Amino acid sequence: MGRKMGFGIMGCGMISEFHINAVDALSDRARLVGITDSVRDSAERMSLRHGGLKIFDSVDDMLSCREINAVCICVPSGYHADMIIKAASSKKHIIVEKPLAITKEQLDDIEKAVEENGVTLAVISQLRFAKDIKRAKYSIDSGELGKIVCADMYMKYYRSQEYYDSGAWRGTKKLDGGGALMNQGIHGVDLLQYLAGQIKSVFAFSKTLSRKIEVEDTLCASIEFDSGAIGVIQATTSVYPGYPRRIEINGDKGSVCIEETAMTRMDIAGNSAEDLTFRPSFASGASVAMNISNDYHTLQISDFIDAVKEKRKPAVDVREGRKAVDAILAIYKSAREERRVFIEELNPKPNNDYC
Ligand SMILES: NC(=O)c1ccc[n+]([C@@H]2O[C@H](COP(=O)([O-])OP(=O)(O)OC[C@H]3O[C@@H](n4cnc5c(N)ncnc54)[C@H](O)[C@@H]3O)[C@@H](O)[C@H]2O)c1
Repeated sequence: MGRKMGFGIMGCGMISEFHINAVDALSDRARLVGITDSVRDSAERMSLRHGGLKIFDSVDDMLSCREINAVCICVPSGYHADMIIKAASSKKHIIVEKPLAITKEQLDDIEKAVEENGVTLAVISQLRFAKDIKRAKYSIDSGELGKIVCADMYMKYYRSQEYYDSGAWRGTKKLDGGGALMNQGIHGVDLLQYLAGQIKSVFAFSKTLSRKIEVEDTLCASIEFDSGAIGVIQATTSVYPGYPRRIEINGDKGSVCIEETAMTRMDIAGNSAEDLTFRPSFASGASVAMNISNDYHTLQISDFIDAVKEKRKPAVDVREGRKAVDAILAIYKSAREERRVFIEELNPKPNNDYC
């Protein structure tokens, strides 16, 4: 690899713009070699918007280009696994948009392909890079909040029917993999586990109440963490006008409340100077999908470049990226089967009784 990492971008829809801007912002270490899309017009429009980018005729064409060291996979979620496996076998490093994949079989195949080919893969979980999220994580990990008792994620968003109709893949089982939780809610599920630890078991209700889609637009789950803490995950895209996503972590010595990526309350026992209520300003995708900040994608792609150079794991590798999807698949299974589901049921540990 030359001094600058060469990037190719697969898929030229809404989120690809954030990757193009991020690579541009990291131009001291990264270079955008080209883009590709199965719809030629989409690639051409994107190319024009960014002053004439090189367009590859196909994903295979892009993967055969030696100047490309890494690809950003920005295609519909149901295609992530196929593209990751192709890119890994071409020995390209990979950044893939969330969700990493949408079925257990895809997740297993991805893990195998990445390991066998020795490439680096990062799953976009850009919100983990926000300053207040890091502050909250520090409070929890350092014990400032004491023993965590409750950890909740409430996402009450608005996506219109037109939003779902704007792409044939949106709201479908095969390519979106789920609805409010798998597409929008996954960010909150990722943050909740990043902050409060691994979810152990779930019990959920899932409904499609007001959108004409194959998947859920509204869902609620009771959850139990490995630590013993309990909580709630609520996700909808059907409520007007859409409120900022809220995460609350409550311990026996303190509590934090986070709206989108901003800490809005922090109360720590015996430290009244820290008992704060903030009035934050933040970008929020609560009502409009595009209204999110580009900064966090830039920070995560910067971490990925460093990880490849330093031959270390990126902040969100395959294992980290699949945790959110595993929890979501367990929640869907629980709603379908109307029972409590343990995450471990999805990925049982090998039985070593006879070893
Ligand atoms: N991190 C975030 O906050 C965030 C936000 C939005 C979307 N996403 C994720 O990004 C992915 C894309 O979402 P989007 O909103 O940009 O979708 P989109 O529909 O706007 O764009 C997808 C693009 O991929 C192209 N495409 C489809 N199949 C292809 C193929 N086989 N080869 C090449 N190109 C192909 C389509 O023509 C389209 O231009 C999804 O997985 C979504 O979950 C992440």
